[in-house]
Amino acid sequence: MPVPVILDCDPGHDDAFNILLAAAHPAVELLALTTVAGNQTVEKTTLNARRVCEVAGIRGVPIAAGRDRPLRGGPDREPRVAADIHGGSGLDGPGFGEGEPDVPQDPRDALTLIRDTLLTHPAPVTLVPTGPLSNIATFLLAHPELTPRIERIVLMGGSTGRGNTTPAAEFNILCDPEAADIVFSSGLPITMIGLNATHQARATPEVVARIAALGTPLARLCVQLLTYFAGTYREVYGFDTPPLHDPLTVAHLIDPSLISLVRAAVSVELTGTHTRGATVVDLHGVTGRPANADVGMEVDVPGFWELVIDAVRVLGEPAEGPPDTP
Ligand code: BDR
Ligand code: CA
Repeated sequence: MPVPVILDCDPGHDDAFNILLAAAHPAVELLALTTVAGNQTVEKTTLNARRVCEVAGIRGVPIAAGRDRPLRGGPDREPRVAADIHGGSGLDGPGFGEGEPDVPQDPRDALTLIRDTLLTHPAPVTLVPTGPLSNIATFLLAHPELTPRIERIVLMGGSTGRGNTTPAAEFNILCDPEAADIVFSSGLPITMIGLNATHQARATPEVVARIAALGTPLARLCVQLLTYFAGTYREVYGFDTPPLHDPLTVAHLIDPSLISLVRAAVSVELTGTHTRGATVVDLHGVTGRPANADVGMEVDVPGFWELVIDAVRVLGEPAEGPPDTP
């Protein structure tokens, strides 16, 4: 049986590839997409989710907009965006144009869509957040009665080591540390795929060439996304190739052998002078705190790219029509 999934995302170049992977692979049943402010404003991340679905021919998956800011307001806690990495649109590179995508936005808000999906799907559903955890935390607070309908949470965020937005904090967690704290303290089964894992999954020139060789319009768009992403990662971090963080979540669901996991206590730093938003991962059990997460460690990088490239291939192929009649 495929794993039923709700993707909660902020597309975002790497979020876009995660949508493709979830929609393409038969091991996953993509039930809904919800969006959150993160890489760009929630208006832009929602538009981007619709654009990705349109270009990839993903129809019938409801897309609803969620929170436009973190849980705690206040003058120094305005939503932060990652325009330096993802551009002014949140999905710079391909030039989508000004037109409205023909994939609609669901009239419900993200919380209602998550609630309705959990209530109507016959089996518990896996939540896959790849942006700030504002929607998920708000949902857990609003609907504690529905936690039995959640199978587990597999998230991209945090790190066992250094951050990427401050020296200590990773972007998704830093955007809304209080939300992350609520999620990590929820008691739900959590798998954390952080920077220590995702930085292994680099879109090398060989990977980009394999995607280009597919030769479809979707493949060309993916190459444009990766080329833009490579440019900003080079400029901002001096990386020669960019890490494609978010699709490691769905890749883990498709094939758990692709990422090794260790159980550990993960705490979110809420107050540190220089470390707010850091995930403090007790890999050696020195704090005595009970483990609350499975933490991604080593990635089978070639296996990961096989999945991603195959998703681009499958979605890029023309849909099968009725057989020709003589
Ligand atoms: C995370 O931050 C975002 O910019 C990416 O989409 C990813 O989810 C990496 O820190
Ligand atoms: Ca993301």
